Amino acid sequence: MKVLVTGAAGFIGANFVYYMLCKHPDDEIVGYDALTYAGNLETLADAVDAGGGFRFVKGDITDREAVDALFAKEKFDAVVNFAAESHVDRSIEDPGVFLRTNILGTQVLMDASRKYEVPRYHQVSTDEVYGDLPLDRPDLLFTEETPIHTSSPYSASKASADLLVQAYIRTFGLPATISRCSNNYGPYQFPEKLIPLMIANCLAGKPLPVSGEGLNVRDWLYVDDHCKAIDLIVRSGKVGEVYNVGGHNEMKNIDIVKLIIQYLGKSEDLITYVTDRKGHDMRYAIDPAKITAALGWAPETMFKDGIGRTIDWYLAHKPWWENILSGEYQQYYEKMYGDR
Ligand code: NAD
Ligand code: TYD
Repeated sequence: MKVLVTGAAGFIGANFVYYMLCKHPDDEIVGYDALTYAGNLETLADAVDAGGGFRFVKGDITDREAVDALFAKEKFDAVVNFAAESHVDRSIEDPGVFLRTNILGTQVLMDASRKYEVPRYHQVSTDEVYGDLPLDRPDLLFTEETPIHTSSPYSASKASADLLVQAYIRTFGLPATISRCSNNYGPYQFPEKLIPLMIANCLAGKPLPVSGEGLNVRDWLYVDDHCKAIDLIVRSGKVGEVYNVGGHNEMKNIDIVKLIIQYLGKSEDLITYVTDRKGHDMRYAIDPAKITAALGWAPETMFKDGIGRTIDWYLAHKPWWENILSGEYQQYYEKMYGDR
């Protein structure tokens, strides 16, 4: 298969590239990414250097001409769209770019997929499109039938894209699928998100900014388990279907922060409660029964193993995140590709 992976230089996109290269060594993967602040080409260095089935193309999914030219040249068998603005706090500060990339970018990719008759388009969505659940109803979980009910400009933009994908499926017969996953954690996550930010701050002895009272609950899944789910959906999922992905692993933010502190042998005095995020979703919890029954998917990594592995990865790859914090990673593309 020849697969286009958009957003390949981001957290989950890059993990997906490595997952695919390992699982399907005969596949050809084209990584496409605009290298926004969240994209880091250093993350893909091993894939590029391996000289196997991976190639990187710098480009924006909202650039209709560039996307059309890429599709005309490559004849993809599948498109997996990870490219997005993904940070809720940023969407509250500046919603515009979220609408442009997450909605219009999706449209551009689907138009190219239609024009060049790509056999499968997969939209990587999120459980945040379902809004949130109350803390006092642990029996309630998000199913694929849960109504869309968004809270932040980020989740509204992702939900808009999902509606557009469903419209393209029905109106144009686009052979598409959608996955809605819970919070991911693992290597290469940008240190603005909860887990890597807390690890980096903890190691630097800086305050750990916990929003509100830290009681919000997220349903954490190790990134490889998400990659495995997407691979299964792309190869065996039914066109037109939505699949929820999550591992029944609900945790309060404050408990995660305390776990990181303990693992790193630091003091809880670093915890600093900060003004709550506007419109802060209380609880996310996924029911993955459909993907388990339909495709045999089940998470393989227990949280206690995955979080240890993740913290160890950040300890072993300090230059990766220190380059991000210093801004140096943004020069990497010029250094590697500037004179080519
Ligand atoms: P990320 O922010 O780490 O990566 C996003 C990538 O997209 C970056 O490399 C960025 O450069 C690229 N990008 C942004 N705008 C672009 C554009 N206009 N054209 C081309 N590339 C562009 O995000 P992530 O955490 O890896 O999330 C990937 C996808 O998975 C997103 O669609 C997100 O909504 C979804 N998702 C994330 C999570 C999570 O916990 N992180 C959970 C469920 C779903
Ligand atoms: P985040 O990693 O931004 O993911 P999302 O908002 O998409 O779930 O945040 C996870 C939770 O952690 C969320 O409830 C907000 C909270 N949070 C903090 O308390 N402090 C922080 O510095 C960050 C980044 C997040």
